[in-house]
Amino acid sequence: MDPLVAAIDQGTSSTRFLVFNAKTAELISQHQVEINQSFPKEGWVEEDPKEIMQSVYECMERTCEKLYQLNIDVSNIKAVGVTNQRETTLVWDKETGEPLYNAIVWLDLRTQSTVERLISKAPGKNKNHLKHKTGLPISTYFSAVKLRWLLDNVDEVQQAVLSERAMFGTVDSWIIWCLTGGRSGGVHCTDVSNASRTMLFNIHTMNWDPELCRYFDVPMEILPKVRSSSEIYGFMVSSANLRVFSVCLGDQSAALVGQMCLKEGQAKNTYGTGCFLLRNTGTKPVMSDHGLLTTVAYKMGKEESACYALEGSVAIAGAVVRWLKDNMGIVKSSSEIETLAAAAGSSYGCYFVPAFSGLYAPYWEPSARGIICGLTQFTNRNHLAFAALEAVCFQTREILDAMNLDSGVPLTQLKVDGGMTSNRLLMQLQADILCMPVARPTMAETTALGAAMAAGAAEGVDVWDLSVDHLPHVMREKYEPQINSDESEYRFARWKKAVQKAMNWET
Ligand code: G3P
Repeated sequence: MDPLVAAIDQGTSSTRFLVFNAKTAELISQHQVEINQSFPKEGWVEEDPKEIMQSVYECMERTCEKLYQLNIDVSNIKAVGVTNQRETTLVWDKETGEPLYNAIVWLDLRTQSTVERLISKAPGKNKNHLKHKTGLPISTYFSAVKLRWLLDNVDEVQQAVLSERAMFGTVDSWIIWCLTGGRSGGVHCTDVSNASRTMLFNIHTMNWDPELCRYFDVPMEILPKVRSSSEIYGFMVSSANLRVFSVCLGDQSAALVGQMCLKEGQAKNTYGTGCFLLRNTGTKPVMSDHGLLTTVAYKMGKEESACYALEGSVAIAGAVVRWLKDNMGIVKSSSEIETLAAAAGSSYGCYFVPAFSGLYAPYWEPSARGIICGLTQFTNRNHLAFAALEAVCFQTREILDAMNLDSGVPLTQLKVDGGMTSNRLLMQLQADILCMPVARPTMAETTALGAAMAAGAAEGVDVWDLSVDHLPHVMREKYEPQINSDESEYRFARWKKAVQKAMNWET
């Protein structure tokens, strides 16, 4: 039996555990559990840390049962990696093991006034004034402001800090701490890719930055230890025969690795709850002049150099489909959107800017709000479905344009992955709106694959030959543009007008 490698993939909308053959990259077994989100107030987005852990346990157990049914011994799993939604912020009590508040999800807008205050006090009111250290603009997106909110507003968090019982972490840290023993000696760590999304981490020195911690008034003793993305962090204490815990990687970094974008210039776009285009810039951090982030992509081992990426982040992609389903009842299942949109065949002039959490790249405008415009009496739910999918494609076009301007070397095709890429209409629409081929791997679970691959490497497992081009995550299905560029430009120009309205909806 070939060795197996596995990953816990804890995303914004669901948790999964996936097991791959380490030689062939074939997906052997998986299980997925949806995660509930709560919206206690307008703009707030929370998740229950205990539910997150419960979903991790359930996914691991159910996947192991499935392996058992396939007559595969789980002891063949040689390494387990964690990949996770980034920025989502938790604080827990290291003595009781209890979370002290819900996880504040990356999409959450409760810190908008804090962000506006910080920007108004920054020299030249410049939202980028910490960018030279962090690679990031000051935004509601990143963990520092969420942690500040917890420290200011939650008594239990304040008490735990005073009595030295508080631990801060992103979701990776919480999962690893719980699985390695929790209050009986759990490992409190994170990796450089996740740390680089907090705004407390210096992406040049690869350490927590005392000046940034002072700026956000965050006590450094509650921060996790920062490790490389591929080394042995510890051992699982609670799960049958799954022992080694080797790595963690932010989900977008893991997708970059899983898509084999390991060389400078290579890029991928992942369609999850949000949409994230990352381009590997090698060992040099490249600062964007066009609204992109500079982020640590990965560091594949203690002694290895870190690799950086330029990132275009879009807050709402798959989340717009969930909104149409859960809030509007327009579709019964996420997959139904493709049928509806196909029935419409066009949005017939309807534009939908889903700025539910403000707008991220390239605008970084927290006060933007969602709008649907261009409605007529003719418009029906099919056109709305089409406009929602088109919005995902237009947002990708905006970050791709920014990426091309920053790098000076335009991409000639877009490598894609993530749940939404099973929607063929979306993929065709994306090729049309970019006027560029879109290439989807036949095995689209590249996020989990990247984390499993990094875990295997840390364990010395001989993973698949990286130069082979017939593996399932490398073989691609291509979508070629089918409309002319004038038509595409016309639609994109109208989208941009709609974006301006979303940004200035109050005036
Ligand atoms: O930065 C947020 C990102 O990591 C979330 O990813 O896959 O849950 O949309 P996803």
